[in-house]
Amino acid sequence: MKTIDLDYENKVAVLTGAASGMGLLASKELAAAGAKVVMCDVDAEALEREASALAADPAVARAGGEAAPCRCDVRRWEDAQAAAALALDRFGRLDLLFSFAGGNEARVCKSPVPFYEQPREVIDWGLDVNLRGPVYMARACMPAMVEQKSGVICLLGSVTGFEGDGNGSMYGTAKSGLFNFAKGLAKAGAPHGVRAFCVSPGPVLTRPGMANIKTLLGRAADPSEIVDFLLYLASGKGAFVTGSNHVVDGGRLCLSL
Ligand SMILES: NC(=O)c1ccc[n+]([C@@H]2O[C@H](COP(=O)([O-])OP(=O)(O)OC[C@H]3O[C@@H](n4cnc5c(N)ncnc54)[C@H](O)[C@@H]3O)[C@@H](O)[C@H]2O)c1
Repeated sequence: MKTIDLDYENKVAVLTGAASGMGLLASKELAAAGAKVVMCDVDAEALEREASALAADPAVARAGGEAAPCRCDVRRWEDAQAAAALALDRFGRLDLLFSFAGGNEARVCKSPVPFYEQPREVIDWGLDVNLRGPVYMARACMPAMVEQKSGVICLLGSVTGFEGDGNGSMYGTAKSGLFNFAKGLAKAGAPHGVRAFCVSPGPVLTRPGMANIKTLLGRAADPSEIVDFLLYLASGKGAFVTGSNHVVDGGRLCLSL
């Protein structure tokens, strides 16, 4: 069977939210394809465990892949700068940025109340992790891409960016902000060979609870169904993709909810 070669060998990728879910899966796929991955996450324990497992994987070593853990809180500008610096110091270039870190503040902060009752800390978490974080990471990583005249920035949106959420209202607000941020990045990057786009999933089975969310196809996505798609877009095969938002939702937005 003919397989598509996405040509990630020796590419240097910075990934946030890399200690679990789709960020971890993308880190594994990239490293197995011979890329050098800077795995960024705020969860230091999970990060060390997953990065060590990846670095010790014989298939990754055979492919020439490498993994470097980077304890990073995307809400902190200094951490974003340190992640970009780690990629450049250790691997000499920076080709790809994937901003996976994110989550619905009502769920992550265990605050299942309507927006008008949310504590300010919960609101801040929702805005800062989902919007400020991707902005800081792009600002920190993009200069190296501009200088080397190539690079790709992949943002993770969500169908909630279209639908809104009465409890985690900052989640939807931030995700729809990323649809627009992809356009701004694309405009700034195009003269310098830098592409940017957003991928917006419907429910994904990184948590069992997502199986209960309705879609036209009657199921949630396997994480690989999202990661395969965005790795295609971020590769040379996706060279004409920039400034756009790509919904991958099993038809959820077709349903009248
Ligand atoms: N799972 C879904 O159903 C779904 C649907 C639509 C969109 N998305 C989006 O896809 C992305 C990945 O989702 P997932 O379910 O794979 O995620 P996940 O919850 O499995 O992992 C998120 C990771 O981000 C890390 N993180 C949290 N705060 C951070 C911070 N301040 N700095 C650095 N890292 C931080 C966490 O420690 C965790 O490892 C998210 O942006 C999410 O909003 C997910």
